[in-house]
Amino acid sequence: MPIIEVRDLSKTYTYHRKAPGLWNSVKSLFKRQTLTTEAVKRVSFTVEAGELVGFLGPNGAGKTTTLKMLAGILYPTTGEARVLGYVPWERKAAYQKQFSIVMGQKNQLWWDLPAMESFLLNKEIYEIPEPQFKETLNELTELLDLHEVLDVQVRKLSLGQRMKAELTAALLHRPKVLFLDEPTIGLDVVAQQKMREFIKAYNQQQKTTIMLTSHYMEDVAALAQRVIIIDRGIIFYDGPLTGLAAKVHEHKTVRMTFTKPVAATDLPAFAHIIERTPTTATVRIPRKDSARRTAEMLKTLPIDDITIEEEPIDDVIRQVFLNHAQPA
Ligand SMILES: Nc1ncnc2c1ncn2[C@@H]1O[C@H](COP(=O)(O)OP(=O)(O)OP(=O)(O)O)[C@@H](O)[C@H]1O
Ligand SMILES: [Mg+2]
Repeated sequence: MPIIEVRDLSKTYTYHRKAPGLWNSVKSLFKRQTLTTEAVKRVSFTVEAGELVGFLGPNGAGKTTTLKMLAGILYPTTGEARVLGYVPWERKAAYQKQFSIVMGQKNQLWWDLPAMESFLLNKEIYEIPEPQFKETLNELTELLDLHEVLDVQVRKLSLGQRMKAELTAALLHRPKVLFLDEPTIGLDVVAQQKMREFIKAYNQQQKTTIMLTSHYMEDVAALAQRVIIIDRGIIFYDGPLTGLAAKVHEHKTVRMTFTKPVAATDLPAFAHIIERTPTTATVRIPRKDSARRTAEMLKTLPIDDITIEEEPIDDVIRQVFLNHAQPA
């Protein structure tokens, strides 16, 4: 049984536009211009227990909107979803106690209080038994190196410290499902890496089901084996990160060194030359039949060494975003 089941989920935002100025405010009382944005369009997917899924897409693709619906913060316009068997937007207490959402762009801790006060508040809200609270807090403080931070006013924390505290607050009740919306946004490279390591280890140890959005390719490459790519509200790809290259790039790159000089005209016609010297060549060959074509080159050329490369995954994702970020 999947932990997250989404079927034909759609969200259309309706809002009113008002031209600036007092007169227009008065006019808009009587005649308002209604605008709509189809943020999420008939999205369907399932996530199994313990999976860590990267949920990717360019700005405005519908990621946050989808996660907010799954967290029960937003009502969908149409469609269905179940998380842990619950319809999220019914906001059942039993569901609230089993998931968490962390939004990197949004502060969920009490700004003027030390983080510890927010943690204690969560203990009450989620009715966490004292021994479990202590044990979990100790574990998380240790893992996230949070000791010095607990009693400092949240407003005085660095962004990295605050994100760790946000994460701790979200994990105290040991949720089975975790939605992470850009948990590494704005962090420096070291803090990003630490956050990444924590998320990975936590997913492996606790078997928590995680959906994570990020604009950082390093996050995706390090964390997610499966990615769901959404663009303009529509799912464009759902599958292994490695399979994405095949969908986006129709070529593979072959690097060769030769035992003796090879003229450009001796290279086969199907190989598109990217770079060459007399004794080396980097060529692009069609992905289709790449095995047969490689064998042919091995037979006809004086090859000393050969490597076949997939495009690096971050280039692949970047390409997806470039191709799709342009207006239709
Ligand atoms: N409250 C709202 N009212 C009207 N339109 C909205 C609202 N929230 C989001 N939208 C629109 O819905 C679309 C999807 O937004 P969403 O925040 O889900 O994108 P996203 O994939 O999270 O983008 P980003 O990567 O920039 O965070 C965008 O066109 C956005 O402008
Ligand atoms: Mg977003």
